[in-house]
Amino acid sequence: MGKALIIGAGGVSNVVVHKCCQNPDVFEEICIASRTKSKCDAMKEKLEGGKTKIQTAQVDADNTEELIVLINDFKPDVVINVALPYQDLTIMDACLATGVHYVDTANYEPLDTPKFEYKWQWAYKEKFEKAGLTALLGSGFDPGVTGVFSAYAQKHYFDEIHTIDILDANAGDHGYPFATNFNPEINIREITANGRYFHNGTWVETAPLSIKEEYNFPQIGPKNIYLLYHEELESLAVHIKGIKKIRFWMTFSDNYLNYLRVLENVGMTSIEPILFEGKQVQPIHFLKAVLPDPASLGPRTKGKTNIGCVFQGTKDGQPKTYYVYNVCDHEEAYAEVGSQAISYTTGVPAMIGAMLIIKGIWKKPGVYNVEEFDPDPYMEALNQHGLPWVEDFSPTLLD
Ligand SMILES: NC(=O)c1ccc[n+]([C@@H]2O[C@H](COP(=O)([O-])OP(=O)(O)OC[C@H]3O[C@@H](n4cnc5c(N)ncnc54)[C@H](OP(=O)(O)O)[C@@H]3O)[C@@H](O)[C@H]2O)c1
Repeated sequence: MGKALIIGAGGVSNVVVHKCCQNPDVFEEICIASRTKSKCDAMKEKLEGGKTKIQTAQVDADNTEELIVLINDFKPDVVINVALPYQDLTIMDACLATGVHYVDTANYEPLDTPKFEYKWQWAYKEKFEKAGLTALLGSGFDPGVTGVFSAYAQKHYFDEIHTIDILDANAGDHGYPFATNFNPEINIREITANGRYFHNGTWVETAPLSIKEEYNFPQIGPKNIYLLYHEELESLAVHIKGIKKIRFWMTFSDNYLNYLRVLENVGMTSIEPILFEGKQVQPIHFLKAVLPDPASLGPRTKGKTNIGCVFQGTKDGQPKTYYVYNVCDHEEAYAEVGSQAISYTTGVPAMIGAMLIIKGIWKKPGVYNVEEFDPDPYMEALNQHGLPWVEDFSPTLLD
């Protein structure tokens, strides 16, 4: 049916590649292209021999011209960007130049400004409309499935949603004293930034990790959760009608936070370059180099993730609450695709977004967040492709 170019060859890409190969009727051909070609070749070697034809290529995704040459050569229907957020705009430019649809899992961030904002990518809306192309933004789990859950709640259960609490729990244990579950630079930039949530039409800013609660997660148990800013808050505040409050919460162990505080206090999480042995070095880049590679955590990680959304609002004039979540087991994810649950819960939705575009089910010219499409086919695909969801109509609510 179609061809996908997958850019990036890290933990998430590994899952996307496996999932595309599990669906050869949709993904007849894929090309895995990244900065380090040997990583693409290693994936090809593992998966070759099935129905999906696999090619690999070296590409610097910061360079639009290189991307254009690659896209013109492979001629995909869709580009799945699972490199880093810094490459979003160059890849979108290349898709426009070559007439190809676009999917990503994280919004653009300039290298020197650790800040989530859709404004750079939303500014491409008219260009994609005019080109008749679809750009699907944030088709991972969060952002991604959390937006689809919100659209599903809106469509089926509520007249008005007033509050959304996104709850992201990782109860996985990899046995290392300190490691991040995905790209350390992106992860640490996210956690050390100020918290922020939407309330009554304005954004309330909080000091990093200063708001803490406890939540008893199904299949995981009680965990400390901390309020963070997360990129889907911006798009959901725009797209969910009647919304008054949206917050994002993530679990962290005391141990993780102690390590993070020490690293922050000694300056290791800074993005400000320092002169080291005659070279400018960003401390966080050095830190990334000495921390365990997230891809190496897969075989060691035990336990589960639970990510979902708690909604409060009204239906037929009556108050209503609803919780929908997915539980993903690290060891089961690893046994299936060779990556832990964080990569798995991101890679499956990225494949689903691309699949819905190739099938023409989620195709409309412009730049869209996932909650702007009909959630039903995506929800069905989550159940079919490894991320089943659970509903609870009387959940515990947060204050
Ligand atoms: N929405 C969600 O739920 C969610 C959750 C987790 C992650 N994410 C996003 O998913 C993406 C991938 O995460 P990951 O954990 O797989 O990261 P990763 O393991 O660090 O992999 C990133 C890959 O991109 C490649 N890359 C980086 N710069 C490049 C460039 N200029 N040209 C070509 N390739 C380049 C890297 O190449 P090298 O191998 O040479 O370094 C690496 O293979 C990130 O954008 C992350 O923010 C989204």
